[in-house]
Amino acid sequence: MKRLIIDCDPGHDDAIAIILAQRHAEVLGITTVSGNAPLDAVTDNALLVTALLNVDTPVHVGAARPLVGDPIHAARVHGVNGLGGVDRIEHGRTPASEDAVGFLLEAAAEDVWVVPIGPLTNIALAIERDPDWVHRIAGISLMGGSVDSGNATPKAEFNIFADPEAAAKVFASGANIIMCGLNLTHQLRTTDSTVERLRAMDRPLATFAAQVFDHLHNRMEELIGQRNAALHDPCAVLAVTHPHLIDAEPRAVAVETEGKLTRGMTVVDERVTRRRGEPTAQVAYGIDAAAAMELVLDALGADQ
Ligand code: BDR
Ligand code: CA
Repeated sequence: MKRLIIDCDPGHDDAIAIILAQRHAEVLGITTVSGNAPLDAVTDNALLVTALLNVDTPVHVGAARPLVGDPIHAARVHGVNGLGGVDRIEHGRTPASEDAVGFLLEAAAEDVWVVPIGPLTNIALAIERDPDWVHRIAGISLMGGSVDSGNATPKAEFNIFADPEAAAKVFASGANIIMCGLNLTHQLRTTDSTVERLRAMDRPLATFAAQVFDHLHNRMEELIGQRNAALHDPCAVLAVTHPHLIDAEPRAVAVETEGKLTRGMTVVDERVTRRRGEPTAQVAYGIDAAAAMELVLDALGADQ
């Protein structure tokens, strides 16, 4: 089993990614970061997911704000508490520490993957504290960016847009990076038939996931007139646990931090000429979506 740490901002798809990771990997810890909702809310959501899963995975609290500027949240999609539309259980759990960065540094080992599925603030702070850290881990499989369209702005994806300076540091760090951007994650979608299958399972995790997807479908219907949702964050987990399902190509990726129209854009060098830059990441382009969805559904139906 692969060993990994999830750095997240749950977030509906983050919650599903945590559940999927617990099924297919050894999750050493969960670190939280301000993103979809403020830090307190996403930390509480991470604890809630560990309670639902009945696992002791430690949750370490990370950055409350990006390296530069004010926090940006995604209440329009995830609700003000990050898990809108989902029944909450009283979990009574508390974080293991307030030092996500310290945990990330201490847990480093050559077989440990770091899977960031929120803004990259904690990861950049770890690199700032110890630039060699990236060479002591197996790699970083992140959900963020895109080779084409954005979602927070026409060119920027939310996780990168919420902390472009952090993302720029991560892509320039020399880490072994897999980038699962929107161009990939839009290929893996839930529909109302996914919700029906989960409801029919009649199990706690599946019922939770049915509420998660139903909420996202309601939001998408209101925002773009379609009842389906991209399952972004689980892709970054699958790139580690089931790499054969994902096609990736080495590419130079830089993050725009200044452009008036393009701040937070991942600029992927796709030129075919000899001028193409040295690769800084494996950029994921394709996923076997049918096989990936079966793995997700299997993890959601596999509870006690
Ligand atoms: C990313 O942004 C968040 O809203 C999701 O959880 C995902 O990590 C998609 O752009
Ligand atoms: Ca996320």
